Amino acid sequence: MEIPKFQSLTKAHNVADFDCGVPALNHWLKTIAPQHQKNGMSKTFVLVYESRPEEVVGFFAMSLRDKVLAADLPAAMRKRLPEAVTGYTLARLAVSEKFKGQQHGERLLLKAMQKAYQASKSVAGFGLFVDAKEGAASFYEKYEFVPFPDDPNTLVYPIRDMPPFPEEN
Ligand SMILES: CC(C)(COP(=O)(O)OP(=O)(O)OC[C@H]1O[C@@H](n2cnc3c(N)ncnc32)[C@H](O)[C@@H]1OP(=O)(O)O)[C@@H](O)C(=O)NCCC(=O)NCCS
Repeated sequence: MEIPKFQSLTKAHNVADFDCGVPALNHWLKTIAPQHQKNGMSKTFVLVYESRPEEVVGFFAMSLRDKVLAADLPAAMRKRLPEAVTGYTLARLAVSEKFKGQQHGERLLLKAMQKAYQASKSVAGFGLFVDAKEGAASFYEKYEFVPFPDDPNTLVYPIRDMPPFPEEN
């Protein structure tokens, strides 16, 4: 069975035909992601099959996270932290309708965690934060992201709790 690979988003990827069922996310990949890729606002990675390298199976985008008040974090994480922390943001994540239910969402999420974990080896950050769209928080909770008590669509996975992800090739 062919295993899809991650690539940094380029013009070679056919973003025009990507459809995850959420128009705002489709629009973001088509119009904003390429701009951000150039100007350094976020980095997008796409999942593709080598046999069809232009077709986007799914994607995720990451950037740095602005200051987060420690008081807003889940209670168990607040101990011995300064007043505010920073980290990484999983800004967008989606799988094409055509490829849903084949563990690609899981693949994308684990790759995003691996990237945050590795980034933290050079530039420290408290955690990987995600702002889930309405109804999607449970997807992240399944992978042990913890919701903010007063804002359950914002979730975090502390870097210190991540498994030791291997270096990327
Ligand atoms: C949410 C999404 C990324 C899941 O992608 P997927 O490839 O179909 O998911 P996977 O096949 O990897 O599923 C992994 C697990 O998550 C579960 N899961 C999938 N979608 C879920 C959702 N919306 N809520 C909760 N759990 C979900 C699956 O049941 C599966 O669990 P299992 O292994 O116990 O069966 C995809 O449906 C999507 O792109 N949705 C539209 C955009 C979106 O909601 N993005 C994320 C929030 S910003």
